[in-house]
Amino acid sequence: MRLVILEEKDNVAEWAARYLIKRITDFQPGPDRYFVLGLPTGSTPLGTYQRLVKYHKAGKISFKYVKTFNMDEYVGIPRNHPQSYHTFMWDNLFKHIDIDPANVHILDGNATDLEAECKSYEQKITDAGGIELFVGGIGPDGHIAFNEPGSSLVSRTRVKTLNQETITANARFFDNDMSKVPKQALTVGVGTVMDSREVMILILGSHKAYALHMAIEEGVNHMWTVSAFQQHPRTIMLCDEDATLELKVKTVKYFKDLWSVHSKLIGDPIL
Ligand code: GLP
Repeated sequence: MRLVILEEKDNVAEWAARYLIKRITDFQPGPDRYFVLGLPTGSTPLGTYQRLVKYHKAGKISFKYVKTFNMDEYVGIPRNHPQSYHTFMWDNLFKHIDIDPANVHILDGNATDLEAECKSYEQKITDAGGIELFVGGIGPDGHIAFNEPGSSLVSRTRVKTLNQETITANARFFDNDMSKVPKQALTVGVGTVMDSREVMILILGSHKAYALHMAIEEGVNHMWTVSAFQQHPRTIMLCDEDATLELKVKTVKYFKDLWSVHSKLIGDPIL
């Protein structure tokens, strides 16, 4: 596992965007070879998406041969609701880039048969050849996607009931009114993300510091579902300084000393 520590959230956004651009470019996607990308929502990836849009507009990256699968979606709010993850993804990324809408996949939280929707989502991932790189964020309680504490670490895409901490954390998007936050969501499972060939998890802010500590300095624990990625052969955790506040000094020093190795992962600056 790699832990890349950068000073501020803007540095994290830039590093993540450049890493994604390099990975997609090096993959050389084409009509018979799509790059399959897993994507999160939330405030954490916003800066990364803004940079992907900027670099796309500058002609540095095309998404023509990219397929995407989003991590999760609320159950029971209209697709065009301002806080639906469909709206978030189209407003913040998809409508600004050259991706074919047919290649965008987001779970349908209004499907009449939610279980069938989850099963078919897994099938679509398999049919696409599996996910090359899954980008994720985490909740302050260490959840990835909507895999709340206690979720099985081999779980697949399914319906989840949100816990109180997540409902409280997400109330800021619903007029700070907890009663407006959907209580259920569809989410990829921990096992679904673990099957990706690579995972990149973005962690920003001191309110995620304890989760980062539990994710990397303690053992694999289903109460901190992101800790499962300790056992993934290719995980990059990407964080800002504030998120390291609960880590041991020697952990931070070890990973910071690897800076010359980490900086090579994103290649030259994009001009
Ligand atoms: C929600 C999403 C997660 C996301 C988390 C953190 O719970 N289901 O996928 O990682 O929020 O959101 P933020 O990035 O806004 O802190």
